[in-house]
Amino acid sequence: MGKTIIISNRLPIQLQIHNGGITAVPSVGGLATGMKSVHSGGDSLWIGWSGLTDEDIPEELAGDIDEALAKHGSSKVKLTIKEVDGFYYGFSNRTIWPLFHYFLEYSEFELESWEIYKNVNQKFADAIVEKANEDDTIWVHDYQLMLVPQMVKEKLPNISIGFFLHIPFPSFEIFRTLPWREEILKGLLGSDLIGFHTYDYERHFLSSVRRILGLEVSFNDIYLENRIIKVDSFPMGIDYKKFSDAAKEHQQRSPENQSELQQRLNKHKKSTPDAKFLLSIDRLDYSKGIAKRLNAFEYFLKKYPQYKEKVRLIILAVPSRSNVPQYQLLKKEIDELVGRINGEFSTVSWTPIWYFYRSMPFENLIDLYTSCDIAWLTPIRDGMNLVAKEFIATRTDKTGVLILSEMAGSANEMNESLLINPNNFEQIADTIKQAINMPIEEQQERNNVLQKRLARYNVEKWANDFMTSLKNQKEKSHSYVSRNLSANVLNSIAKDYKKAKKRLLFIDYDGTLAGFHINPQKASPDEELYALLDTIASQENTDMYLISGRDKETFTKWFLPKKYNMIVEHGVWISRGGEDFYMLENVKKDWMEKIHPVLESFVDRTPGSFIEEKNYSLAWHYRNTDPDFGQKRASELNTVLTSLIANDDLSVLNGNKVMEIKSSNVNKGRAALRVNTEATYDYDFIFAIGDDWTDEFMFQELPESAVTVKVGHQKTAAKYYVDGIKNVRTILKRFVD
Ligand code: ADP
Ligand code: G6P
Repeated sequence: MGKTIIISNRLPIQLQIHNGGITAVPSVGGLATGMKSVHSGGDSLWIGWSGLTDEDIPEELAGDIDEALAKHGSSKVKLTIKEVDGFYYGFSNRTIWPLFHYFLEYSEFELESWEIYKNVNQKFADAIVEKANEDDTIWVHDYQLMLVPQMVKEKLPNISIGFFLHIPFPSFEIFRTLPWREEILKGLLGSDLIGFHTYDYERHFLSSVRRILGLEVSFNDIYLENRIIKVDSFPMGIDYKKFSDAAKEHQQRSPENQSELQQRLNKHKKSTPDAKFLLSIDRLDYSKGIAKRLNAFEYFLKKYPQYKEKVRLIILAVPSRSNVPQYQLLKKEIDELVGRINGEFSTVSWTPIWYFYRSMPFENLIDLYTSCDIAWLTPIRDGMNLVAKEFIATRTDKTGVLILSEMAGSANEMNESLLINPNNFEQIADTIKQAINMPIEEQQERNNVLQKRLARYNVEKWANDFMTSLKNQKEKSHSYVSRNLSANVLNSIAKDYKKAKKRLLFIDYDGTLAGFHINPQKASPDEELYALLDTIASQENTDMYLISGRDKETFTKWFLPKKYNMIVEHGVWISRGGEDFYMLENVKKDWMEKIHPVLESFVDRTPGSFIEEKNYSLAWHYRNTDPDFGQKRASELNTVLTSLIANDDLSVLNGNKVMEIKSSNVNKGRAALRVNTEATYDYDFIFAIGDDWTDEFMFQELPESAVTVKVGHQKTAAKYYVDGIKNVRTILKRFVD
């Protein structure tokens, strides 16, 4: 069993140099605090940035740095001041962070920071490659390292790579504004598994993959060349036991063993026993809505003046990214707001807001969590928000009220808290009032449910789920790759072909021999294709059939003069050796009058779609529509048609961006089988190739010994996969060389 390599910009500790020596302080932020528990429990190596730049580190301390990190199972990636500026303060926190949190107006698109971001991602990837073996598992974290998966995959194609995004993935409309959107998506797609906190982020990501890269997505699988990438949501939990044990231990402490902060809190509680403490803890970040929260608090005091001197808001903000101008402005804004509100409302015995701007040791966090009555968290947008979960975990007697913004990822799992819209001051003021007056039994009832969930889906379970899913994905992808038609397999197929006494070939046209075109009539055969088909068709003991859903008029024009055997309209018509088409199946067409208007109504409402009228079927094409919208309309049409055709002998074929309605007794499988069984000789080599869902009928119906090949990477009953049209021609050429 290989080891796990965790890789993130932040390590669990940050190094600092004081008086010529190195000190390590724990990192804040959800990623580091959450992953720390996972890391300490297992056999893993954590690679990241130490927090110091190359210029900060005197030569004589270089060795000590490695040693200090090694104590925490970590290893560093060295970064210069310029790199930290461009990569961390620049592209990560001035472009991606604001954009992914929907602060479009704060996003800066600078080529130079993008270039540095790429170079630094390469540095992280190189650090992994240097330490990794092929049987290791690589777990890359967060928006600072979105290009790393692809960079590692290039060097170590067989290694398992998972990626987890700790922040929201924005909707396509936002993401598309990024000048380097393709590169970012491709970077992420180097992973085998990509995880998000919520289904919404997952959905946004898949939509961008479909629309920007035009890749096929089936449920939550992305098909890319010869790989399947899985995308899923894993809501991150906390180390529940650590917080609840710390809270229990904290409650048992004698007063003299309590921290200074706790003693101060106790004193205030004693002097105003009926006053309520509201708590908010965040990094000082505009996404956390701290300024809005202060304004809302002021609004509350004005709307419900009876609570003056009866509530106190404790705001703990940890300094963050202070080199970024938006964070500096925010700091100023908050300092001013706190000053103004305190100035306006304070009395001799009461200051409404206590404001701490610093990082605090774990012990003090527990003091605050356990001493406050209400936790009030109002992010405007937040990937998860672990503080909400930590607060609930410390409430050993199950009292306490959580007021949480519905814009936080954690709101999805914390329905029993009081959910608010951080922009709705009216609702917030009323919710604070509700929280202050909530009966103890109700608090306990709500927290009981929340605690059970947090205890069950803790950070360990989260990490295990992710890892298990990554392992399964790797196995699934492996079996998929092994069915790829490799050079060796092709050699042996070509050998069998040549040896065979009588051969039967079924070759689909669109998506197999020719690419798709906006106008189907324009996807006509090229000279190279004619030459290739001529050679195959003229071989002795070889029955080659072009088998297609196309109408017979088009194929008559393109291929009848060539005298190829043809089956068209999915098996309605057949033509052999240049004879006119005749019907292979007896089919009705009176149903068309009923279905046509239904399809027309879908064309009217789905820009870019159109109807193709064939002799015995109707097809609704939606290749040129918006992919998500087209898919949605297709499933809508499917529902409508299913009820409409219930009593007719009709079926709906869901092809590649086309839905076709036709008689049930017609399909390519039936047609191919008929050709095979009605032949006067036994074929000892049967071959079928196609890209579409409609070709699956052939793959299923033909005998077990047939060589069946799927073009593309969707789920299939065929024995082998090939990548695209070019590879189809390579195979066919091997039959005639
Ligand atoms: P984010 O990851 O955006 O910072 P989270 O709420 O998910 O937000 O995670 C914040 C983490 O940082 C929590 O684990 C919390 O305990 C810790 N933290 C927040 N503020 C402080 C602080 N002032 N001192 C120490 N730790 C803090
Ligand atoms: C969020 C991000 C993390 C980041 C943390 C702290 O949780 O998702 O990747 O580490 O904030 O921010 P910082 O910039 O100090 O690492």
